[in-house]
Amino acid sequence: MKITVIGAGNVGATCADVLAYKETAQEVVLLDIREGFAEGKALDIWQKAPIDLYDTRTVGVTNDYARTANSDVVVITSGLPRKPGMSRDDLISTNAGIVRSVTENAVAHSPNAILIVVSNPLDVMTYCAHLASKLPRTKVMGMAGILDTARYRAFLAEEINCSPKDIQAVLMGGHGDTMVPLPRYTTVGGIPVTELVDKEKLNAIVNRTINGGGELVKLMGTSAWYAPGSAAAQMVEAIVRDQRRIFPVCMKLEGEYGISDCYLGVPVILGKNGIEKVIELQLNEAEKALLEVSRQKVKEVMAVLDNMPTPA
Ligand code: NAI
Ligand code: 2OP
Repeated sequence: MKITVIGAGNVGATCADVLAYKETAQEVVLLDIREGFAEGKALDIWQKAPIDLYDTRTVGVTNDYARTANSDVVVITSGLPRKPGMSRDDLISTNAGIVRSVTENAVAHSPNAILIVVSNPLDVMTYCAHLASKLPRTKVMGMAGILDTARYRAFLAEEINCSPKDIQAVLMGGHGDTMVPLPRYTTVGGIPVTELVDKEKLNAIVNRTINGGGELVKLMGTSAWYAPGSAAAQMVEAIVRDQRRIFPVCMKLEGEYGISDCYLGVPVILGKNGIEKVIELQLNEAEKALLEVSRQKVKEVMAVLDNMPTPA
C-alpha cells in the first residue's frame, strides 16, 4: 500500500507520522510546494523509525507528483490554516485554487486513489476536490466528523471522569458553526449519555464542541493539528485495512436524508472501496431542523465556489 499526503505542514506531517507509526502502509509520500520542507519532515519521521520500531518508509518531495504515482489513498491537507478572527469560509478562494490543482495532479498520477480532503472550508473543499477529480462520490470524502466527535467525546470523558474509549458518538452536518452533535445517539459504555450528564452540562459540551476549532485557534494563533492529523490517518487506516468502520464523513449527498447536491457529514461505513454505505439515522424533527440549517450554510459557501472565476 502507498499513501500520499499533500501538504507537509502541521496537519499533513502529523498525519504522515501517525500513518508511519501505525505501519498503515509500506510507503508514505509527503508532498509540499515549499522547497525541501516535505523532504525534511519525511526524513525526520523516518529517523524516528528505529526508536518507535516501524518499517513504513516516508519519502518527501517538492511538488514532484511522479513520485506519488499509484497511491492507494491521497490525503489533501495543502492550504492555509485559519488565523485568529478568520472564519473557515474566509479561506475559500485561496484554498480552492490550491485544492483544485493538487487534486488534478494527484489524480493524474493515481487514477485509482481514494481522496481524503482536510483543507478548509472542509465541506466546500471536498466539493472542489470532487469536481476536479471526476471520481465517483464514494471515493472523495472530507475529514471533519471524526475530529468533531473526538472533541465532543474528550469533553464528555472529562465531565464524567471516565475513559474516552468508552464514549461512542455521532455528529452530522457541516464542519463549522452549524455542525449537528447528536446527544440522542451518544452512549457511554452502552449507557445513554443523558443518564450521566444533565441537560445544561450537555448543552455546554455541545456548544464547546461546535466552537472547538476556534478555541484552539485562539490559544495557538493557528488551527489544531494533532487530533486532525490522527483523524485523517484513522480514515486512511479504515480504507487500506478494509476495516468497515463507521465514521461521520463529509460526502456528496444524493437523496440521503432528503438532501441532494450538498456536501455534508453523515455516518458511513468506510472500507477498501471508500464509502461502502451511507447510514441513514431516523432523525427527529429538531435534529432535522438543525441539519437543514447546516445544509443551507454549506450551500451558501458552495455557491461562492460556483461563482468564482474559472481558472485559466
Ligand atoms: P500549514 O500551513 O501548517 O500547512 C499547509 C501546507 O500546505 C504548507 O506546508 C504549505 O506549504 C502547503 N501548500 C500550500 N500550497 C500547496 C500546494 N499547492 N501544493 C502542495 N502544498 C501546498 O496548515 P495546517 O495547519 O497543516 O492546515 C492545513 C489545512 O487543513 C488548512 O486549510 C486548515 O484550515 C485545515 N484543517 C482542517 C481541519 C478539519 O477538521 N478538516 C482541521 C485542521 C486544519
Ligand atoms: C479545526 O476544527 C480549524 O477546522 C479546524 O480545528
